[in-house]
Amino acid sequence: MGKIAVVGSINIDYVIEADRLPELGETVLGNHFFLSLGGKGANQAVAASRLGGDVALFGSIGNDENGQIIKGKMQKERVDLSHLNTIENHPSGAAFIELCDSENRIVVISGANMHTDVSYINSVTAELLKYDVILFQLETPLEMMEHIVPVLAENRKTIILNPAPALKLKEELINQITYLTPNEFEYGLILDSEDSMETLLKQYPNKLIITRGTKGVTYFDDEKQIDVPVIKVDAVDTTGAGDTFSGAFAVGISEGKGLYESIYFGNVAAGLSVTKKGAQTGMPYRNEVEQILKAGLSHESKGEDETN
Ligand code: RIB
Repeated sequence: MGKIAVVGSINIDYVIEADRLPELGETVLGNHFFLSLGGKGANQAVAASRLGGDVALFGSIGNDENGQIIKGKMQKERVDLSHLNTIENHPSGAAFIELCDSENRIVVISGANMHTDVSYINSVTAELLKYDVILFQLETPLEMMEHIVPVLAENRKTIILNPAPALKLKEELINQITYLTPNEFEYGLILDSEDSMETLLKQYPNKLIITRGTKGVTYFDDEKQIDVPVIKVDAVDTTGAGDTFSGAFAVGISEGKGLYESIYFGNVAAGLSVTKKGAQTGMPYRNEVEQILKAGLSHESKGEDETN
């Protein structure tokens, strides 16, 4: 089994839940408030670890109370934290999440995550090269990715980018990435194109993997467009569904599964993750996913779209 390194953000999520989200200038009464561990990088590392991946997280936290909470919780998740960067005089990343009817809106304050930069990645490159599958997102500086991806590509690493939050990417970077996994709202911006999904999928066969919520995941193999189904669940919170998909997909790839099989593994894990509140709370363990795979269930989800 290959080893997985996740390079990415680590946040504390401040989640509020309300029956209706306020318009600008309006106040509404909410129902619940809770804190949970989040950040796309941390979420993807936890998802991969729970599914049996051998995972290390590369990223930054502040030298503050939230940093200590993050470390304590992540240690229980069997994720190697030995390369974490602790930043003096900067708060740990924080995300403010409004949850309503299983959907969410998120504002992230990056804090220490902006220190997962070129100078940090240079200091851990030798360690990073010990991993086989490297998983990135876009909540840490893009220049850091643009700097390290050519090095990883030269060393024939499998590079997965979950491009969220969406940013336009350089063609050169896209060419060096092995798998790019935007959702259906992100791919146009990332590829800077108004071409149809079908056209773009054909342009990037076996690379561009578009997650489409309840419609499943679509990619183009060498000959045709393939739709990989999702499972049928009652969604209560879609926060972290995309992260669960990415972490699970990385596990599938690290185990040498094929593309379709790795995507379906990701879909089952993501489907299970939305049945509980909180980005990481519902992330499934390996046996839960295996049970569903064995039962051969592959119905369309009746939950809401999984967008982050
Ligand atoms: O993808 C969900 C995550 O996005 C949340 O955990 C939040 O921290 C933001 O990074």
